[in-house]
This record gives sequence, structure tokens and C-alpha cells, in this order.
Amino acid sequence: MTHTEPTGQWTEETAQWYADNYGNWPTTRMPLDAVEWRGEETVVDLGCGTGNSLRYLATLCPTGRLVGIEPTPAMLAIARHQTDDAGLSDRIDLQAGAAESIPAPDNSVDTVLAFSTYLHWQDIDSSLVEIARVLKPGGRLLLSEEPENLNMHNTTLAEIESRLSRAGLSVVTTQQLNDASVVCELIIAKYLDPVTKADT
Ligand SMILES: C[S@@+](CC[C@H](N)C(=O)[O-])C[C@H]1O[C@@H](n2cnc3c(N)ncnc32)[C@H](O)[C@@H]1O
Repeated sequence: MTHTEPTGQWTEETAQWYADNYGNWPTTRMPLDAVEWRGEETVVDLGCGTGNSLRYLATLCPTGRLVGIEPTPAMLAIARHQTDDAGLSDRIDLQAGAAESIPAPDNSVDTVLAFSTYLHWQDIDSSLVEIARVLKPGGRLLLSEEPENLNMHNTTLAEIESRLSRAGLSVVTTQQLNDASVVCELIIAKYLDPVTKADT
């Protein structure tokens, strides 16, 4: 089972439709359950949609700084509303912004999340360079997409991996995650120190 997504510009209508149908889709949580969390880390969720991943992460990463970046005003409003309702506004900072220009300083983020959003970016290569810029050396990117959406966009995992590597992000693993009938591909990439190539 795959969730459908709008192919053109995101609008107030598509944001509400997505939130109603897929805001709590398993892919918002599956990649978070597949990795370890240290607790004290800064996590940026790019294209955070309704903010569901960050609200789930608030439990897995109870002392982390959690930031959501979202360019669609209607989606950002939904994320803020749902986060308020969950009593998590003091834990989750939701900001307007896009992957092409991430509102975060250089070397400031431990983990970037990009769940079901990569295929929507206007400029993928610039966005990946932005991710490398904001990650600390040793920081990681968790990028996930459903296989059918990759097919629909004529994109392969190999193509994504090669773009990551061109942007200075080194692929650590690519794995398929399953939750009942929902499947997603998770790529984990690290930003290594540009001089020493060390992890931290
Ligand atoms: C299919 S939704 C996924 C939302 C959320 N990550 C999830 O897993 O439910 C795609 C999201 O990407 C956002 N988006 C579109 N263009 C973007 C860009 N250039 N940078 C960051 N996010 C973008 C959309 O506004 C939308 O919220």
C-alpha cells in the first residue's frame, strides 16, 4: 500500500487533503524506529508536513532539540495546530523554510530527516549541498521514500545515492523497511569531516 501525493504545487487544498489522509501514515514513524537516538541531539525535519514525525520523535529523543522546516504555509499551520493540541509546542520548533535554503547555521545539526519530501524539492542538488552544510561532521541524513513513488518519478535508489555522494554525503546503508503492507526505502548517509574524513 502506497500513499498518493500531489504532483504539482502544494496548495491549501492539497495540504489539508494530505493531512486528513496521510498525516499519520506509518512512513512518518518507520525510519525513526529503525535507528538509534542519543537523546541530546539537534534534529531538523525537512518538509515536515503535519509534524507527525517530530511529535513521535519527542518520545524517542526526549531531550533533543527538534525543528521542523516546511515551505507550504497551510501545511505549517496544520503542523503548528496539531503540535499545540498534543501539548508539544515547547518541544518542537516549527519554522517556514525549504530544503534549498535551510534556516540553520553551518555545522549545527546532528540528524536531518527527509521523509517523502525529496521528490518534491525544486532543486535537489542544491538541497543536498544545504544538508551537508548544516550537518556537523559525523551528522547523519535519514532519507526515505516509498518504492512506488520513486518509480512514478522515474528515480532509483542508485541515482539518489550518487547525488548524495556528489553533495559530500557518504551513504552508510540503504535498507527496506516494512510495516504490515507499507514499505519504504531508507537511505542513511553521513557528512564526514571534509579534511580528515573522520566520523566526528
Ligand atoms: C508528501 S509530504 C511529506 C510530509 C512529511 N515529511 C511526511 O512524511 O508526512 C511532502 C512535503 O514536502 C514539502 N515540500 C515541498 N517542497 C519542498 C521543498 N522545496 N523543501 C522542503 N519541503 C518541501 C511539502 O510542502 C510537503 O509538506
